[in-house]
Amino acid sequence: MSTRRGFFAQMGAAATVARMLPEAAYAQSAVVEGVGLPKDMVWLNANENPAGPPACSLDAMRAVLTSAGRYHYNEFRGIYAVMAKAEGLAPEQFVLGSGSSEVLHNSIDLFTSPTRPLISVNPAYEGPREVARNLGRPVVLTRLRDDYTADVHKLAEEADKAHGGLIYLCNPNNPTSAVTTATDIDWLVANLPANTTLLVDEAYIHFVERPDVKTALPYVQQGKNVIVTRTFSKIYGMAGLRVGFAAARPDIAERMARLALNVISIVSARAVVAALADRDNILRERKAALAKTRRELTAWLRERDVRFIEPNANFIMIDVGRNAREFIASMPKMGVAPGRPFPPLDNLLRVSFGSDADMAKFREVFWKVYKG
Ligand SMILES: Cc1ncc(COP(=O)(O)O)c(C=O)c1O
Repeated sequence: MSTRRGFFAQMGAAATVARMLPEAAYAQSAVVEGVGLPKDMVWLNANENPAGPPACSLDAMRAVLTSAGRYHYNEFRGIYAVMAKAEGLAPEQFVLGSGSSEVLHNSIDLFTSPTRPLISVNPAYEGPREVARNLGRPVVLTRLRDDYTADVHKLAEEADKAHGGLIYLCNPNNPTSAVTTATDIDWLVANLPANTTLLVDEAYIHFVERPDVKTALPYVQQGKNVIVTRTFSKIYGMAGLRVGFAAARPDIAERMARLALNVISIVSARAVVAALADRDNILRERKAALAKTRRELTAWLRERDVRFIEPNANFIMIDVGRNAREFIASMPKMGVAPGRPFPPLDNLLRVSFGSDADMAKFREVFWKVYKG
């Protein structure tokens, strides 16, 4: 079977990266480089879902393959409407993307400028800031609070100073797995400075169990300057199918739709429509499975007095008690690929939650390296 990683190994990773678009390049930075890596590597580096696409999506994809010689353009309006409805949105509030990467990119293109920065916390998902820099837009990064949460007051202050811009807030945040509470987002929306749009990236929102965290979708319904992005890459396990969307006020959605590439394949679209027909069950089961893995690992770490940031998504940041770079470099040789370094959180290792077997291997390798 040809896997993504196997494919890159064949192509020669360095030459391939040089020709990539920015989105692909920052996804690629999650890939562990090196020769002679174990064939049965446990990949816990990119916050993917070990469950993969739901069975109903696999069936839907198989069923459409033989007619994939057609464009299927006539189906897409209906497909967008189904997807929007599943999220409680009107079609004119909904913009489909090739992963959420595309709609994040388009939001940055539209709502930052050479004088209006992208404003975010550090560290957060690097994709948006890399897009902004590639477009020649300024980037302002604010410090996290001591409990690793986003300081919404600082974000608003920076937007005010710049006379507007785009605030990017990832909730839960990648890489910390920490959340911004509904109270804090309420405050930020109520206090958005003039000419400022809030972009809330909810790639991991389905994994959250805390009752004080809410989706920002209601602000879209209320007509605020808020864009919410979602993806089918994480809880739905469809990272390779590249489907995501943005929800926004119709005037904002219309501007974003003009930049959309409209490149979702019929195979991916049918997979998503099938999953949405059984959405509640799929989300409930997957959230419960992830929560169990999360509980087991955090209990194991607590028993050993290993510190970590309380996780709310399908990954965790663990304090390894020393600079994590060497720790990260030594794990792949032993069969486990963890996340990349995330400065300035230099002592923290990001690990995605995998299957039970993956986590057993992780615990074994982690403990060996931790103990030295
Ligand atoms: C917070 C966050 N947003 C967006 C993305 C992009 O994902 P996709 O383009 O697959 O939707 C990622 C990928 O890991 C992510 O961590």
